[in-house]
Amino acid sequence: MKAIVFDSFGGSDKLRVAEIPTPEPHRGEVQIKVAYTSVNPVDWKIREGHLTEMLPHHFPIIPGWDAAGTVSAIGPGVKNFHVGDAVYAYARKPEVQWGTYAEYVCLDENAVAKKPKALSFAQAAGIPLTALTAWQALFDFAALKQGETVLIHAGAGGVGSMAIQFAKNAGAKVITTASARNHAYVTELGADEVIDYSQNSVSELIKQRYPAGLDIVFDCAGGSALEESYDLLRSEGRLVSIVGTPDPAKAEAANLKAGFVFVSPNSTQLTQIAELIDAGKVLPQHTTERPLEEAAAAQDENKERHVRGKVVLKVS
Ligand SMILES: NC(=O)c1ccc[n+]([C@@H]2O[C@H](COP(=O)([O-])OP(=O)(O)OC[C@H]3O[C@@H](n4cnc5c(N)ncnc54)[C@H](OP(=O)(O)O)[C@@H]3O)[C@@H](O)[C@H]2O)c1
Repeated sequence: MKAIVFDSFGGSDKLRVAEIPTPEPHRGEVQIKVAYTSVNPVDWKIREGHLTEMLPHHFPIIPGWDAAGTVSAIGPGVKNFHVGDAVYAYARKPEVQWGTYAEYVCLDENAVAKKPKALSFAQAAGIPLTALTAWQALFDFAALKQGETVLIHAGAGGVGSMAIQFAKNAGAKVITTASARNHAYVTELGADEVIDYSQNSVSELIKQRYPAGLDIVFDCAGGSALEESYDLLRSEGRLVSIVGTPDPAKAEAANLKAGFVFVSPNSTQLTQIAELIDAGKVLPQHTTERPLEEAAAAQDENKERHVRGKVVLKVS
């Protein structure tokens, strides 16, 4: 099969197109013929060697943790899928090696769900990693409730685009940050209030407008967004970051529940998310397509941190 691989850590020039053996599904696994994968910041972070302390890595590595495609074979014991099913998946495995920038990937069926019917394969490929991250941060960690007010940093990104919609759909008031070029986009997704972080001090504006404090801050930006969050929240508010680890002493001093969330594969949640999408309650992100062969340029573009929504790679 055709795949993008790299053989050592480094820049995007390490990525090359290769022909490698097609993987066969083991017990409990489905083989997916990948139609589209998507580009996430974690792809270039892995390529540069930044995740070696979190997960074991083995070369050659095929990047990519998102897939949308069709089940092409099933291993023994698979219960929920048949050959021909249209599916999508968040494909993180316990060890980093066989990712989704490839014509085929084999995954535990517990990582896979039926693709939202309303979406193309290209749109569906942008959903799993980002939507599960937003879901697990807002609901599993922060226990977002109807009527609460949440600040979502980096609303125009892949995760932010999903988080805005999940929070609105759950009945929250949503404040988000984005540069001016993305204000119409995040408003269309449902944001009630948008702050241009490049022109304003977000923390000063929030303190003026919400002196009693917010219920939740969801940090998808890191840096000062995280550092300035502690005194924006009410007592017993929740601070959840997917970029950095909140300081436990500062969280305790402000009486917050605070933590870092690392997204986990979850078939049940992907099915719930597909239902929301098919019910018209959640839209796919703004999606830009590129051919698989442009993986290096797509990762470089992602690293600039100004992609609106998602860039997806057409595999087959
Ligand atoms: N822990 C986990 O499990 C997990 C999972 C997913 C992602 N992440 C991490 O979370 C971060 C976001 O991921 P993503 O996929 O959403 O990234 P992304 O799609 O690449 O984010 C790009 C967006 O970020 C916005 N942005 C950049 N700097 C900003 C800032 N200082 N304040 C507000 N917005 C800013 C840009 O909007 P403008 O162009 O308007 O500036 C752009 O639309 C990344 O660091 C990623 O590695 C972690």
